[in-house]
Amino acid sequence: MGIESTAHTIGVGVVASSGRILANELETYRPLRGGIHPREAAQHHASVAHQVLERALRKAGVTIPEIDAVAFSYGPGLGPCLRTGATLARALALRLGRPLIAVNHGVAHIEIGKLLTGFRDPVVLYVAGGNTLVTTLHEGRYRILGETLDIAAGNCLDAFGIAAGIGPMPAPEQYARRGKNLHSMPFNVKGMDVSFSGILTSAERLLAGGVPVEDVSLSVTEAVYAMLTEVLERALALTLKKEVLLVGGLARSRRLQEMVGEMVKTHGAEFRPIPDEYLGDNGAMIAWTGIKMLQHGQVTAIEQSIVRPRLRIDETEVAWQ
Ligand SMILES: Nc1ncnc2c1ncn2[C@@H]1O[C@H](COP(=O)(O)OP(=O)(O)O)[C@@H](O)[C@H]1O
Ligand SMILES: [Mg+2]
Repeated sequence: MGIESTAHTIGVGVVASSGRILANELETYRPLRGGIHPREAAQHHASVAHQVLERALRKAGVTIPEIDAVAFSYGPGLGPCLRTGATLARALALRLGRPLIAVNHGVAHIEIGKLLTGFRDPVVLYVAGGNTLVTTLHEGRYRILGETLDIAAGNCLDAFGIAAGIGPMPAPEQYARRGKNLHSMPFNVKGMDVSFSGILTSAERLLAGGVPVEDVSLSVTEAVYAMLTEVLERALALTLKKEVLLVGGLARSRRLQEMVGEMVKTHGAEFRPIPDEYLGDNGAMIAWTGIKMLQHGQVTAIEQSIVRPRLRIDETEVAWQ
């Protein structure tokens, strides 16, 4: 069983060691206005956790005692949210007398992508509301080749949509489809690192100047996706790897998938999109990564199961490959 609760989503997944996903249930906290409030989100998670858990068990057709191990996201994420999921995981593991496995959320986004595509050694663009990085496996760890120097790509697009009054993603992408004129945007790529805050400032200036929100949406989304595709291309050219994976909530963008697909083709590599359900935060990805870790003895003692809000993707040893 895998429990996800790093930010807005509480998820419970049940996966068999063969890789068959038996259940993937979740509930998402949606603030009435503005951004995510960590304590409110944690209260939301605590109040619906039992329902999500029961639904997952019913869907999977298993009873609690049949769960062989309990995995949970221990970081990175929002402290109060992480602690809610961790508390549930510890309680279950203790009651069942089963191993507890602390999973790195970023690693889990990648591992579920590998399971669903059959890829073995991809170059990965991980783009979400709180994370933006390009990574690939090298000597037992996902090494960070490039990342955002300020805000995450998803956060940039969400903040833009909210400021423009149309709402977070996918609204900016929908408005962009009706855009006609592309306005120039700051293109901040340094090596394989990116910076998005300048785009937000430029977008606000265009909106204040009376440029239609459809045109600004088009300009902002195209700029963000082009920057992401460029750093991914640099990573692909450097590593000479042949598989490309796009993971994280923003990877649901059809336009980003299209841009990445075209770029990858020119390198003779392969890109395979993953179903939307497994791109955003979910419990199945935690369960699956937990299985991989369990098979390599990477279990976590209760007293060492403290959450790590600032955990980085390269802190986890990938023993299973
Ligand atoms: N339909 C969509 N198309 C593109 N991007 C989306 C869509 N829905 C959500 N997103 C983006 O995904 C982000 C959430 O990513 P996710 O991986 O679920 O969470 P987190 O960033 O907390 O890890 C949102 O902030 C938003 O920018
Ligand atoms: Mg995520």
